[in-house]
Amino acid sequence: MANYSKTIMITGGAGFIGSHVVRLFVNQYPQYHIVNLDALTYAGNLANLDDVKNAPNYSFEKGDITDEARIKALFEQYKFDAVIHLAAESHVDRSIMDPLAFVRTNVMGTANLLHISRSFWKDNLEGKLFYHVSTDEVYGSLGAEGFFTEETPYDPRSPYSASKASSDHFVMAWYHTYDMPVILSNCSNNYGSNHFPEKLIPLMINNILHNKPLPVYGKGENVRDWLFVEDHARAIDTIFHKGKVGGKYNIGGFNEWKNIDIVHLLCNVMDKKLGRAPGESAKLITYVKDRPGHDLRYAIDATKLNKELGWKPSLQFEEGLEKTVDWYLAHQDWVKAVTSGDYQKYYNEQYIQR
Ligand code: NAD
Ligand code: TYD
Repeated sequence: MANYSKTIMITGGAGFIGSHVVRLFVNQYPQYHIVNLDALTYAGNLANLDDVKNAPNYSFEKGDITDEARIKALFEQYKFDAVIHLAAESHVDRSIMDPLAFVRTNVMGTANLLHISRSFWKDNLEGKLFYHVSTDEVYGSLGAEGFFTEETPYDPRSPYSASKASSDHFVMAWYHTYDMPVILSNCSNNYGSNHFPEKLIPLMINNILHNKPLPVYGKGENVRDWLFVEDHARAIDTIFHKGKVGGKYNIGGFNEWKNIDIVHLLCNVMDKKLGRAPGESAKLITYVKDRPGHDLRYAIDATKLNKELGWKPSLQFEEGLEKTVDWYLAHQDWVKAVTSGDYQKYYNEQYIQR
């Protein structure tokens, strides 16, 4: 085997954000061996990584982060220097349907990874790092004013955000209790290619294309801060290499949008791309029953990351959204593959039967 300067386990690398992080690390750091550990749940898709699957510094291992024996065996085999942990159940609506799956993966899985990492690293922590990727949703919901900073107290309100908040607390508990070298980042909503079409933007693109109703929850007034996924991957790269151990960094796009405005923007872009009359796609907008406990507004203050480590978003939202629409239109095989089977069952439960 080649002599790599680091061997890094990236968990959840077959998912949306994870696949962008794997691609960036495999291409940018040929001196690192990148091992992608993923259970390949409904959200994991190895086709996301077709372009790097034969790279000499890339390996894939199927496995569940809650499986103690499997993770230990991988640590024995690869002697990881670092973990970048993205594997998670990630969709709020699914967490409302099946909360315990979120506790299992996000809480138990993270604690399991921490426990095993420490058992292999504890005699020599030098050069080791456990990087935990988390969300701004741990901070709860904002009113019309204000931003989440790294000091904002946690106030999670959905089973998803509660499970992520819990995992963040375990990560910091390992730092304080065992001196485990950890870093934590909390990012706002991502968008871009390979995004599973259960989330707002890819779901709306898919429904516009197929002339299906566009289900806007409540009044569409909820606000999210959107970041292009490749900018998130760059932020993770920056924090992994330059962040302070024990530190916590907020990542955001300085880019707040009301849901209904995004849906209109997508309709306009799609009308142009599909040669429809202006306003045609917007006729599909359908207001539906609100999500229970729907957080009103998320807004990240990413000043610390910008000032300390020099990171900033690279793309304007309109440009990123158009790139995203183009990717979906050019990758209909990918969409068809991920929306067959189980997706239809989920879609019926979430949108048709309620
Ligand atoms: P995703 O749902 O697209 O991908 C999750 C990946 O984890 C999939 O490949 C899945 O197969 C894998 N996975 C799930 N359970 C597993 C288990 N038990 N063992 C091993 N692998 C498992 O998620 P995403 O949107 O790419 O999010 C990745 C991470 O980033 C998550 O931790 C999420 O909380 C966080 N995050 C996401 C966003 C966002 O906007 N999507 C924003 C901020 C933070
Ligand atoms: P989502 O993409 O699920 O991300 P999150 O809930 O983690 O922020 O949803 C983004 C916003 O869009 C959120 O306010 C809920 C809303 N939404 C809809 O209005 N309709 C939908 O079909 C979906 C999936 C989301």
